[in-house]
Amino acid sequence: MGRSLRWAVSLKETLSLPNFEELFRKAIFGLPEEDVKSQRAFRYKQDSLACIIGRILIRKATCDILEKSWPEITFERTGRGKPYLKNSPPNYHFNISHHGDLVVLATENVPVGIDVMRIEKRRSETAEEHIMKLKRQFTEQEIETMLGFVTELDRWRAFYRIWCLKEAILKATGIGLTDNLRKYDFWTKPNHSFEPGCYLTSTRYFHEKIEQKSWRIEECFIDLLYDVQFLSPDLDDIEEFEIFDVKPDKHF
Ligand SMILES: CC(C)(COP(=O)(O)OP(=O)(O)OC[C@H]1O[C@@H](n2cnc3c(N)ncnc32)[C@H](O)[C@@H]1OP(=O)(O)O)[C@@H](O)C(=O)NCCC(=O)NCCS
Repeated sequence: MGRSLRWAVSLKETLSLPNFEELFRKAIFGLPEEDVKSQRAFRYKQDSLACIIGRILIRKATCDILEKSWPEITFERTGRGKPYLKNSPPNYHFNISHHGDLVVLATENVPVGIDVMRIEKRRSETAEEHIMKLKRQFTEQEIETMLGFVTELDRWRAFYRIWCLKEAILKATGIGLTDNLRKYDFWTKPNHSFEPGCYLTSTRYFHEKIEQKSWRIEECFIDLLYDVQFLSPDLDDIEEFEIFDVKPDKHF
C-alpha cells in the first residue's frame, strides 16, 4: 500500500449510521485508556466524537500502511504535542485535523501537516474587522489578497484559506503554537474555480521572505464549506510514490 492517504470523515454521516452505538462502543474498547480519557474532557458530544474518530483514523491508516495489527502499535507525542508512532520507520508520517463536521487525515512518507476549517461568516464583525484585528499575524501581501475580494463571503474564504495554510505548516513542522505567524507568508492566487473536488497546488510559501520551494502544498474544498490544506516536502525524488489513493477530479 502507498503511504499517501487523504481521508475525510463526516460526523453527521457517522452519527446517522444505523449501528453507530455498537461501532462507537467497539471503538472505545479498542483505544488505549488515555485516548478514552481525553475525549471525555470535551463538553460537546460532537467534539468528543471528532477526537475518537481522529484516533481511530490514525490507527487504521497506520495498520493498513505498515501492515501491523492494532495492538502492535503505540503512539507517543513530541514535547509540542505532535503525535508519532513509537518505533516508526523513518518514512512514515501522519497528521489529523478536526473542525465542524469533519475529521481529516493525511499520511505521507515525509513530514506532513493538515488543517481543516469551516468557513463561517461571523455575525459580530465583518471580515475586514476580523482580519485587521489579527493584522500582526499576516504580511501586507496576505492582507492585500484577503481584502482584495469584494464580497464578504470571498473575504472570509480568503481569510480561512490563509489561516489554514499557516496552521498546516505549523503542524507539518511540529511547531504547533506560535505567536509569530507573520513569518509564514502564503501567496494564494485568487482562484474562482476553487470548487469541491478540485486540488490547488499553485500557492507559494515564503518563510522570512525566502521562497520555500521544497514544500508541496495541496488545497481543496471538501464541500462548499470546508477548506483543507496539506503540506509536505516535495516528493519528486522519492520512488514508488502515489500522489493520491483516490485521484482528485481536477488539478489546477
Ligand atoms: C497544534 C495546533 C496547530 C492544532 O491546531 P487546531 O486547529 O487547534 O487543531 P486541529 O484539529 O487542526 O489539530 C489537532 C490535532 O493536531 C495534532 N497535533 C497536536 N499538536 C501538534 C503539533 N505540535 N504539530 C502537529 N500536529 C499536532 C494532534 O493529532 C491533534 O489531535 P488531538 O487533539 O485529537 O490529539 C494548535 O494547537 C496550534 O498550536 N495552533 C496554532 C495556533 C495559531 O496560532 N493559529 C493561528 C493560525 S493563523
